[in-house]
Amino acid sequence: MANILIVDDERNIRSGLQIAFEDEGYDTFEAADGQEAWKIINKNTIDLVITDLRMPVMSGYELLKKINAAYPTLPVIVLTGHGSIEDAVQAMRDGAVDFFTKPVDLDHLILTVSKALSNKLIKEQNEKLTKEISALKKKQDFHQIIGKSAPLMKMMETIEQVAPTRASVLVTGESGTGKELVADAIHSLSNRSGGPFIKVHCAALSENLLESELFGHEKGAFTGAVSQKKGRFELADGGTIFLDEIGEINASTQVKILRVLQERAFERVGGSETINVDVRIIAATNRNLEEEVKAGNFREDLYYRLNVVHIEVPPLRERKEDIGLLIASFLDTFNKEDDKDVTGFSPAARKALMSYSWPGNIRELRNTVESCVVLARGKVIDVDDLPPQITEEKSASTVDIKIGTSLDEAERILIMSTIDYCKGNKTRAAEILKIGRKTLHRKLEEYSSSPESAQ
Ligand SMILES: Nc1ncnc2c1ncn2[C@@H]1O[C@H](COP(=O)(O)OP(=O)(O)OP(=O)(O)O)[C@@H](O)[C@H]1O
Ligand SMILES: [Mg+2]
Repeated sequence: MANILIVDDERNIRSGLQIAFEDEGYDTFEAADGQEAWKIINKNTIDLVITDLRMPVMSGYELLKKINAAYPTLPVIVLTGHGSIEDAVQAMRDGAVDFFTKPVDLDHLILTVSKALSNKLIKEQNEKLTKEISALKKKQDFHQIIGKSAPLMKMMETIEQVAPTRASVLVTGESGTGKELVADAIHSLSNRSGGPFIKVHCAALSENLLESELFGHEKGAFTGAVSQKKGRFELADGGTIFLDEIGEINASTQVKILRVLQERAFERVGGSETINVDVRIIAATNRNLEEEVKAGNFREDLYYRLNVVHIEVPPLRERKEDIGLLIASFLDTFNKEDDKDVTGFSPAARKALMSYSWPGNIRELRNTVESCVVLARGKVIDVDDLPPQITEEKSASTVDIKIGTSLDEAERILIMSTIDYCKGNKTRAAEILKIGRKTLHRKLEEYSSSPESAQ
C-alpha cells in the first residue's frame, strides 16, 4: 500500500490524519515542518504528501516548490487554515493537486488521496511506456511493428534474417494481427527498399480484373481495354509485390502466378510479348493454405513456391505483454489526431483490456482505443467507458472445474464451453483448444453417443 507523508506543525492534526489513513490501510510518515518533511521525502519512497502551508522553519509553499522541481509526479495536497483561500489558490498554481480548508472533511480527503494516487500510477506507467516506445522506435525506425513479447521478438528476428534475401515469404495469421505490417517491414529492411512496393488486395477484385491488374493488358484485349496498361508485377520490377489474401485467387490466376515465381516472366492479358521482371513476392492469407491444398482449392506447387519462408503472426491473446505498449502508442496517435488529452486507462479498465481475448487482434485494440479516446469525457478511461463486449466477455472466459472432476469430464466441460464461447464456430474453438478440427469432431461424436449427454 502507498506511503503518505503528513506535514503539519500541530500535533493533533497530524495524529488525527495518521489514524484515519492507517485505518484505510496506508502507511504514514509525519513531519512538523517543511524541512523535516523534505528530509523524509529524500530518504523514503513517499507516494503522496499532505501538507499545511504555514509552518515554522520551512513553509508548505517552499516544500511544494522543492517537490515539484525534484519529484514532479509526487502529488501534494494542501491544508489551509480558515480564511486563507488565496494561499490555497496560489498553492494550486504552484502545482498542488488539491486543497482543503481546516477543519478537514476526512471522507472527502480520503477520496481525493485515492484518486491522486491512481492518477500518479497512470502517469508513471505512461512515462515508462513512452520511454520504452521511443527506445523501440529508435531501434526499429525502419518499421512500425510495436511489441516486446517473446513471440513478437522471435518473429522480428525471422523478418530481419529473411529481408535481405529474395526468398518468397508467406505471411499467415488471424485477421488484424499485422500481416501487412510484416510485409512492409520485410520490404523496408531489404536491399530493394529503394524500389517500388506494390500491394494487391486479391480478394477485392473479380477474376478477370485481377488478372489484368496483376499482369496488365494490351489495347483491345477486352471490351473497355482502350489502351495498353502495365500490370502490378511490371510496376513492381526491382522491388517487392505483396499479394494480400492470396487464398482467394482462382485456378487460372494461380497458374500464372506460379509461372512468375518460377521464371519471373509473364505476358500481358491479350498480349504475346514475354515480359521479364525482377520481383520479390510476399503473400499473405488468414486461411489455412495447407488445408486449402488438401481440399484441392489451392495448387500445391504454388503453395510450396510461396512458402519458402513462412512467417506466422501470433494472435494478440498469445502475446498480451504487447498490449500495454500498443495502447500507449495508439493513445498517442489518437490524442494527436483528435486533439484530446487522455492520459490512460484506470487500473480496472486495464485489467479488463488484459483479460479480453481480442478475437479481432490488434485492429480491434486500435479501434477500441480510438473510440475510447473520441468518446472520453475525462483524462482517464474507466471500465464503464469500454465497449460492452470487452467487459461482458469476462464471465464467459472461465469454466467451472473443481477438484473432484475427472479428467474426462474436465475435458468435456472445457470443450463444450469453448464452443459456446466461440458461438458454435468449431474451427475457432479447435484453434483455441490447440487441437485439430477432426479431433474436435471425434470428441463431439463421442459425447453425443455417451449416456451423459442424454441428461
Ligand atoms: N505490432 C503492431 N504494432 C502496431 N500496430 C499494429 C501492429 N500489428 C498490427 N497493427 C495495426 O493493426 C491494424 C491491422 O493490421 P494489418 O492490416 O497489418 O492486419 P492483417 O493481419 O493484414 O489483417 P487482415 O487479415 O484482416 O488483412 C493496422 O492498423 C496496423 O497498423
Ligand atoms: Mg491485411
